[in-house]
Amino acid sequence: MVTLRTVSLFFVLCSFVSGSLASSKPLGSHPASGPCASCHSELASVLPKNHPEIGQASFAACAKCHILATEGGTAQENGFSTRIHLAHEGAKVSLDCTVCHSYVPGKSFGIIGQSISWGAPKEDDLAAMKESLNSWAQSNHTDHLHAMAKIDCGGCHGKEAPLLDTTVENSRCLSCHGPLEKLAAKTTPKDLPGRNPHKSHLGDVACTVCHHAHSDSSVYCLNCHNNFRMTIPAGGQ
Ligand code: HEC
Ligand code: HEC
Ligand code: HEC
Ligand code: HEC
Ligand code: HEC
Ligand code: HEC
Ligand code: HEC
Repeated sequence: MVTLRTVSLFFVLCSFVSGSLASSKPLGSHPASGPCASCHSELASVLPKNHPEIGQASFAACAKCHILATEGGTAQENGFSTRIHLAHEGAKVSLDCTVCHSYVPGKSFGIIGQSISWGAPKEDDLAAMKESLNSWAQSNHTDHLHAMAKIDCGGCHGKEAPLLDTTVENSRCLSCHGPLEKLAAKTTPKDLPGRNPHKSHLGDVACTVCHHAHSDSSVYCLNCHNNFRMTIPAGGQ
């Protein structure tokens, strides 16, 4: 079913979309190639307003200025990766990952036409990645708050493709949200300072005990203190 939907979507795209997304031949002397050419004969025309001039560039040219995840993986925003994934993996357009990604199960995961690979996801890993990407693109979970702030998978997980059962260490979260003392200062309740999710008698706990990235978050304190009033961002309330 997925393949069928993807294939028919492709035809719908090719027949409806004109101009920037037309399937007509590119104007330059070299035929467009790479993972984008089948839909965007001119990549320049889908770039954001005020984007630097790139001429008749194919996808390979993007890497000259936008560091691909192989070298990146640092805890920072990546508007390039975020915009590309949101544009093609949202409610309106949903492409199969392998339209753009080269993938050999258990061996490699990269970008078509580029000799790079970010880890070796197996098929069930890729299924989990798809599920997480879907959530990141359009859920009301913590991941989506990050997509809106241009934080992609690599911003939290690093450059390797995130596999099943992977998680994220506190130090990674704190490289953007820390230091912990500052975070704790922000969330100290005036009425009862001890009721602080980030500084309590629990001591040093994983952020992910409460903040789930790809599902509803929940306040662990309430397991015992059912009389506390506490809410958490993306808690599904
Ligand atoms: C199967 C067809 C298809 C392929 C392949 C494809 N795209 Fe797209 N792309 C689309 C459609 C459809 C849109 C949405 C157009 C719109 O929003 O009007 C889009 C939108 C975009 C946008 C606009 C994003 C924004 O935020 O406004 C960019 C940039 C883009 N594509 C780049 C790429 C790049 C780079 C590749 C290759 C890595 C690629 N596309 C491959 C169909 C495709
Ligand atoms: C000459 C250098 C250069 C090239 C080549 C280039 N870009 Fe960019 N791009 C930039 C700069 C500079 C910005 C603005 C700063 C930023 O967001 O990185 C930008 C921003 C973007 C953004 C918006 C990011 C955001 O934060 O919203 C997208 C999407 C994008 N570029 C896509 C592409 C694609 C697709 C290609 C290849 C077809 C490409 N760029 C090639 C320099 C370049
Ligand atoms: C339209 C093309 C396109 C599609 C479709 C696409 N990707 Fe990507 N993906 C890219 C590009 C381009 C990069 C490199 C971005 C960078 O390094 O900044 C990338 C990078 C990644 C990364 C590396 C880490 C990161 O966040 O930068 C992961 C993981 C990933 N994609 C997962 C997926 C999954 C899972 C799917 C399918 C649900 C998917 N992608 C569909 C174009 C695409
Ligand atoms: C805000 C940081 C953050 C971002 C952004 C993020 N993740 Fe995650 N991811 C996590 C955390 C934390 C976990 C551990 C499980 C949980 O808390 O939901 C996780 C778990 C996973 C898992 C394992 C799921 C399982 O069922 O075992 C996969 C696969 C994954 N992420 C893929 C992705 C992909 C693909 C993206 C980009 C679309 C992404 N993540 C973006 C933080 C993040
Ligand atoms: C690369 C930087 C970065 C990383 C890594 C990161 N975040 Fe975020 N996070 C942001 C940004 C930016 C926002 C949106 C702006 C804001 O609200 O602070 C955000 C939003 C949030 C929010 C919502 C805040 C609110 O006021 O609604 C929570 C909760 C959160 N992040 C928790 C986490 C957790 C837990 C991790 C680790 C699993 C993590 N973040 C990893 C940058 C990051
Ligand atoms: C025991 C549960 C719990 C743990 C563990 C936890 N948090 Fe929180 N977090 C919460 C709750 C509850 C809130 C909402 C607090 C509020 O609204 O005052 C919150 C709020 C936040 C916010 C938004 C703060 C703001 O500006 O309002 C960020 C960012 C955040 N947490 C990051 C983290 C990080 C990073 C870690 C790990 C070092 C972590 N949290 C560990 C429960 C937790
Ligand atoms: C495993 C159960 C458990 C969890 C989880 C737990 N507590 Fe407690 N907490 C207790 C017990 C037992 C006491 C001591 C008995 C009492 O005074 O209620 C206590 C006492 C307290 C007190 C002082 C007494 C009061 O009720 O004012 C505060 C404040 C408090 N906890 C905050 C927290 C916060 C904040 C969290 C989450 C970050 C948390 N606790 C998580 C069991 C727990």
